[in-house]
Amino acid sequence: MTRARIVICEFMDEGAVARLAAAHDVLYDPKLVGDAARLRAEAAGADALVVRNLTQVRGDLLAAMARCKVVGRLGVGLDNIDVPACEARGIKVIPATGANALSVAEYVIASTLLLLRGAFASTGAVATGQWPRAALGNGRETAGQTLGIVGFGSIGQTTARLAHGLGMRVIAHDAMLPRDAPVFAQSGVQPVSLDELVRSADVVTLHIPLLDTTRGLFNAARIGAMKKGAVLINTSRGHIVDINALTAALRTGQLGGAAIDVFDVEPLPVSPSLQDCPNLLLTPHISGVSAQSNERVSVMIAIKVLESFL
Ligand SMILES: NC(=O)c1ccc[n+]([C@@H]2O[C@H](COP(=O)([O-])OP(=O)(O)OC[C@H]3O[C@@H](n4cnc5c(N)ncnc54)[C@H](O)[C@@H]3O)[C@@H](O)[C@H]2O)c1
Repeated sequence: MTRARIVICEFMDEGAVARLAAAHDVLYDPKLVGDAARLRAEAAGADALVVRNLTQVRGDLLAAMARCKVVGRLGVGLDNIDVPACEARGIKVIPATGANALSVAEYVIASTLLLLRGAFASTGAVATGQWPRAALGNGRETAGQTLGIVGFGSIGQTTARLAHGLGMRVIAHDAMLPRDAPVFAQSGVQPVSLDELVRSADVVTLHIPLLDTTRGLFNAARIGAMKKGAVLINTSRGHIVDINALTAALRTGQLGGAAIDVFDVEPLPVSPSLQDCPNLLLTPHISGVSAQSNERVSVMIAIKVLESFL
């Protein structure tokens, strides 16, 4: 086996980096993604490039990748990679399919419990002698509520399994799966149209890729069609939810809560309109990133990259 040059330009579990370095010549620099010129120069000499979600594998960078045979993606969504252009250049793109599904699903369940109950942000009030018991005593239990899952792939199915454990009713819509697809019956989930899901779910969670067909899917009209007081959770990608329409719906009480982990622009610029929005939970694209999932994702990609040079 000849030693390949592997460039890793975003963070990867150190144990997985060591696996690659045992067999190949590895440059591991998690900050490299922030230096476009140096990234292009290093990528030009790479047989494999390992990225997370920040590296835009397209245009100038892709043009510089003259030797590259493999792009390993430490995650699932491929919207930061021009996959057709990679394929046209004979570059194989390898995602970490399924490896962070549990981490995202647990985030969805935690957000569901927090947002339906709406009673866990009282530390400041309680510690300063206020006692907002009456105001916070009217939250909803999760058991018996309907969870609507948009996109019934790896993460959607894992989320359904956890939600059943809490006694939720689960319905799902997937544009690529017919209603009689065995996975629905096997997982005890009722397949429905998107309109039906939006109309009847108490909690709507999105697990779809960013595509032309999903961009703007949750615009003002669709958010307006959601059940009054419902909760919206977006861990899929920014651009799928109209954040201004969402905050307007939270302010009027049309929606009862929202958790947003992904944004049109990341990092999210300073956004005063989001800071005082009721029952809105914002996180910095971490739903798929936990200690365990980082290890699983990194080891999966290390093994697949190693296999591609056998
Ligand atoms: N925030 C994070 O940390 C994080 C982590 C992992 C994944 N993600 C995002 O979550 C998405 C889903 O991940 P996954 O592993 O479940 O992917 P997956 O490919 O297993 O499932 C996606 C499902 O969406 C369906 N789909 C596609 N277009 C649709 C549409 N218009 N309407 C309804 N369904 C549609 C597909 O048929 C598929 O079943 C990824 O594409 C990624 O963008 C985010």
